[in-house]
Amino acid sequence: MIKRVRKAIFPVGGLGTRFLPATKSMPKEMLPVVDKPLIQYAVEEAKAAGIEEFIFVTGRGKQAIEDHFDYSYELEETLRTRGKNDLLAQARDVVLGAGAIFYTRQQEPLGLGHAVWCARALARDEPVAVLLADDLILSRKPVLAQMVEDYDRVGGNLVAVMEVPREHVSRYGILHPGAERGRMVEVKGLVEKPKVADAPSNLAVIGRYILQPEIFAHLELKQKGAGGEIQLTDGMARMIGHGPFHGHRFEGTRFDCGDKVGFLEATIAFALDREDIREGLKRRLGALLLDGSK
Ligand code: UTP
Repeated sequence: MIKRVRKAIFPVGGLGTRFLPATKSMPKEMLPVVDKPLIQYAVEEAKAAGIEEFIFVTGRGKQAIEDHFDYSYELEETLRTRGKNDLLAQARDVVLGAGAIFYTRQQEPLGLGHAVWCARALARDEPVAVLLADDLILSRKPVLAQMVEDYDRVGGNLVAVMEVPREHVSRYGILHPGAERGRMVEVKGLVEKPKVADAPSNLAVIGRYILQPEIFAHLELKQKGAGGEIQLTDGMARMIGHGPFHGHRFEGTRFDCGDKVGFLEATIAFALDREDIREGLKRRLGALLLDGSK
């Protein structure tokens, strides 16, 4: 029987060094794209996929994330007395249900695999979704919901994949692909940050996963991989051959918001997608680009 995915893990324990000094005292995951923090996009995507329990793996200096998903009485009272009901509704909508949100700390940022392992007691023996907030995807249907549709048919492990330029493979976990069916690609192997010459394909894993609870036993080994970090990819690779394992070629455009240019690109793309901002932004961008080309 295929167990439904009810829980999601949000690893937010990283240091976000590529965004210093902005991230010195503020979590990278709270950086806003237009008017919403990255982590809220990820949580909304999880909700849209039917997730009921939200597990955050945080670290020091990440309290702003906890506050964001809680009530803010002073703010709400001020909005109420000023009659700003739309804004009040927005502030309250962000709050996650009592008892549905869990926080645990990764005391040291030893890698993504280690962050996921830190959530083992909260995940227990259920399949889990893992969402990385810095991978932001503009799509018609939220990506995790696309994946859950496939997962409900085939079960096992499922990772979001996309083709990347060959010269970029050393930035990603790369898939050794097998048979393809619809949007699904059989996973025959996974390798983290391979050299261009050694890469089995240019199909890269991006930050959406549905994983069986066996992942925690594999991560328990705490073996260091690429970059001296405990890699999720290495834990996942150990599960290949023990049940279905697929890549899911998602519909949508992915932006790497962990990188400055990717973050700026996402901001523009999401703003252009918004009716209330599109026209004004187009005019201003056009003028800026003309000016910049002088
Ligand atoms: P990144 O590889 O982007 O690392 O992590 P980072 O530390 O956040 O950022 P840079 O490279 O220093 O700028 C991808 C995701 O995995 C989480 C991060 O919070 C981010 O959401 N992560 C990474 C952890 O939770 N713990 C870790 O030890 C590493």
